[in-house]
Amino acid sequence: MESGLSARDRVGVQDFLLLDNYTSEAAFIENLRRRYKENLIYTYIGSVLVSVNPYRELEIYSKQHMERYRGVNFYEISPHIYALADNSYRAVRTERKDQCILISGESGAGKTEASKKVLQYYTTMCPTRNNTQSIRERLLQSTPVLEAFGNAKTLRNDNSSRFGKYMDVQFDYKGAPIGGHILNYLLEKSRVVHQNHGERNFHIFYQLLESGDGALLKRLGLDRTNPQQYHYLVKGNCPRVSSISDKNSWKVVSKAFTVIGFNEEEVEELLKVVASVLHLGNTQFGEDEYGETHLTTEMPIKYVSEVSYIPVLSLTHKKIVAKGEEMIGPLSLEQAVSARDALAKAIYGRTFTWLVQKINQSLAFQVKCSSVIGLLDIYGFEVFQNNSFEQFCINYCNEKLQQLFIELTLKSEQEEYEAEGIGWETVEYFNNKIICDLVEEKFKGIIAILDEECLRPGDACDLTFLEKLEDRLGGHAHFVTHKLANGKIRKAVGREEFRLLHYAGEVNYNINGFLDKNNDLLYRNLKEVIMMMIVRRQSNFRFTLLSCGQAATQFKLSLAKLMDILMSKQPSYIRCIKPNDAKQPGRFEEVLVRHQVKYLGLMENLRVRRAGFAYRRSFEAFLQRYKPLCPDTWPNWQGKLSDGVSTLVKHLDYKAEEYKLGRSKIFIRFPKTLFLTEDALELKKPTIGEREKRLIMIQSWWRGVKGRRRAKRRRQAADTIRNLIKGFILRNEPRCPDNEYFLDHVRFSFLMTIKRNLPKSVLDRTWPRPPPSLTEVTHPHTTYTHIHVLTLERSQSSLEQKVVASGIFRGQKDNYPQSVPRLFVGTRLENEEINLKVRQTLGTDNKYGVVVTKYDRHGFRARPRQLLLMGSGVILVQESKIKQRIDYSSLLGISVSSLSDGFFILHVPPADSKQKGDLVLQCDHVIEAVTKLAVMADKIHSVNISQDSIKFAIARGKEGVIDFTYGAELRVVKTKNGHLAVVRIIQSHTKPINHLDKILSL
Ligand SMILES: Nc1ncnc2c1ncn2[C@@H]1O[C@H](COP(=O)(O)OP(=O)(O)O)[C@@H](O)[C@H]1O
Ligand SMILES: [Mg+2]
Repeated sequence: MESGLSARDRVGVQDFLLLDNYTSEAAFIENLRRRYKENLIYTYIGSVLVSVNPYRELEIYSKQHMERYRGVNFYEISPHIYALADNSYRAVRTERKDQCILISGESGAGKTEASKKVLQYYTTMCPTRNNTQSIRERLLQSTPVLEAFGNAKTLRNDNSSRFGKYMDVQFDYKGAPIGGHILNYLLEKSRVVHQNHGERNFHIFYQLLESGDGALLKRLGLDRTNPQQYHYLVKGNCPRVSSISDKNSWKVVSKAFTVIGFNEEEVEELLKVVASVLHLGNTQFGEDEYGETHLTTEMPIKYVSEVSYIPVLSLTHKKIVAKGEEMIGPLSLEQAVSARDALAKAIYGRTFTWLVQKINQSLAFQVKCSSVIGLLDIYGFEVFQNNSFEQFCINYCNEKLQQLFIELTLKSEQEEYEAEGIGWETVEYFNNKIICDLVEEKFKGIIAILDEECLRPGDACDLTFLEKLEDRLGGHAHFVTHKLANGKIRKAVGREEFRLLHYAGEVNYNINGFLDKNNDLLYRNLKEVIMMMIVRRQSNFRFTLLSCGQAATQFKLSLAKLMDILMSKQPSYIRCIKPNDAKQPGRFEEVLVRHQVKYLGLMENLRVRRAGFAYRRSFEAFLQRYKPLCPDTWPNWQGKLSDGVSTLVKHLDYKAEEYKLGRSKIFIRFPKTLFLTEDALELKKPTIGEREKRLIMIQSWWRGVKGRRRAKRRRQAADTIRNLIKGFILRNEPRCPDNEYFLDHVRFSFLMTIKRNLPKSVLDRTWPRPPPSLTEVTHPHTTYTHIHVLTLERSQSSLEQKVVASGIFRGQKDNYPQSVPRLFVGTRLENEEINLKVRQTLGTDNKYGVVVTKYDRHGFRARPRQLLLMGSGVILVQESKIKQRIDYSSLLGISVSSLSDGFFILHVPPADSKQKGDLVLQCDHVIEAVTKLAVMADKIHSVNISQDSIKFAIARGKEGVIDFTYGAELRVVKTKNGHLAVVRIIQSHTKPINHLDKILSL
């Protein structure tokens, strides 16, 4: 337990809550750095996981690692993403409460990798249903397809996701993953037509050109020889460095398409869109002598119309309505270029949405979904030199997530305090609702004002938008512009910028492009063009219906929906940090990390979690660890756990303000208190004596044994219940392996009922009603027989002994069926048959007597004897002489053969000097005698039934053997090799005679 605590000097603290100086950003970063240097990339803030991108493959993601984290508590083992994944999964299983895992961090910090690791954990570790193997595959394979269309190489990340993704993994009641659902946010469509220097377009363009089959490329009018000829691919001036990885990726993507269930036609339709975008990009315009815009390129246009069904005229002309009449009017050169780009973005964006829908169809679950774990992989707070509409949306999103985080964290803290009966202490925190309102409030917020400006007729533009913001929001504590500010701040905000004071810090947004981007600039006629494309496509490929509303508002609405989804779940958080911009392992740049710690709000996270108590543990765990520190609790505390903890902390001199005892947990306010206790434990360890150490070892070993036994019992119980249920369903079917357990159980229970409710007299004809599977027992003519039989055999234990005999001999010994219809009687020897002298010696302790034949151990001479079962041992009597006495406690076991002979051997300890070796006996009532002996000596499980021969001990370590064989008649002879040979007649199995027999012989 708490291995990280004892190793804390070497690698900092594994939970930031234990940082002594928890308000110090420097201490926080130093802890991250120290751990990162040791390749310890994960650290907790309570239940939040902070992850620092290692930029190298670490050997910590194997199946063995997954196993190690299964079912383990957070603090028991070094921090890991699997611990978090497992924790959420366990909550889903045990509490049936939906979970979500929110992953944030800036581009390249490791969000997508983290979400893949979580998904891998679930698809590897969760139980399977027969038909869910393919769902696992599809869940995993949805990633490469979405990445091909939604990821791109950027300066920050070679595989940067250019969209936000929320994915539900759905589980059935057994915890098997059975489906999924994806929601996508804000695809960065501008990348389709423009990339920054050193960046690329979406992967799929390069993958198709590098690896698409020749005939396919020909059909799409594409040429692989020179990808640089496509204008939309050369904007970023990015050298074609990754052609090999594109080729490999294409293989993965093609396979993934098949797994997800795309047919060839659908894949080709998708690729047609990719080709159309490339052709559109190569469509050039010029002006003729009348200043009218026309197309200067022939080839791409051919493909634009043939592959994409785009009417060529729509690229240079638009519909206008003048004086109530629709007319076609020309576009200016500039308008044509921007309309072309808008069309390319719109086509690609809608295709992406279609792709997500198609994947969702493939992941839709077929069986009842019981609970859900959602995974959110979305951009973290973004602050660049120049921040535009996209950063505005992203940061607004993070503002909302922060609000959710604070609300849920405080809520769960409060709930825990309440559950533990500890008074809630107000936590000071920055409530960012004021900023969320500033952005999203109806009619008043920035988004409302932006929409208003977009829809307003007249000369609306980005600058008029800025003026309106200043007008309406001037004076708001979190909003500043150049004009509104004064002094220093004025200098820091440009004339075309507005500044928001986010929870994580200030960000200046440049208003250029806000209106266009919000309008998602698509001329009316272009929308119609897209509609036409939909209609003219023959296949089932569909674009989604045209969106209505402005981009920011749409985003706001989808975010609100997302918040509802997340609010209904229990959240866990993964905060990803990028240690350097060069994508290099081992490099930890403090300035960069500090920036992220700030924008991820980690110090605020820590402050909120630490506002109350730094450490909390269940009484049991606390006492278990620290009990050696107090004489009263060592080595074991016998009383109530809370009293034990109380005694322990009093002995340790904890001050009242340092801790509180809840109902099941101790809360410790300062890490220092805990560290002192830990240090005391370290000091104590060497002085714990050998005996105590052994005791600890034995205790922990015993805990393990008990745990395993508990687990085994649980498994057995589950099996039994399963067998009973299966048997119950098949109870009316003929006896078969699936219902025999159930039927036997019913028979046994019924028999016990009979035993408890035996009729009082022969005339009493009442009979307990048997279960349907035993209806034969009520047969009128047998009823009386039963009553009669059972009345005679009222002897209290007789029926139980019959059941025991059945357990020992049924199916094992040939003459067992014969014994079934015969009664077990109280004794086979009346008192008078036993010599008076013997009776006088033994007193009245005799429980059962029977005539037996004893065979000498050496010559195998047969001698008549009486066998008496007494309260504490078995006696062999020859007339008036007591020949041998074996205490039950020293009886090792009883052996019989599997045949129908009456031999039985009593084994005694060879070293027992009073004994002359094992006793070889023969009896006509072997089943009865052995059963009674086994019951009285408590040796039911020590009856050994041998197939061919039985070895027995003769005095002084010698050994005798009895061989059993089938034969025409019974013979018992001494053979040449000194064995006793018992030949037994072949038994024809007698049929069961009555129902009791039937019941017992089953
Ligand atoms: N846990 C990890 N182990 C090894 N490499 C990682 C890990 N997390 C991230 N990386 C590396 O960093 C790159 C960027 O990670 P990614 O998850 O795509 O970032 P994000 O989604 O946050 O933009 C990955 O392609 C991978 O090379
Ligand atoms: Mg990503």
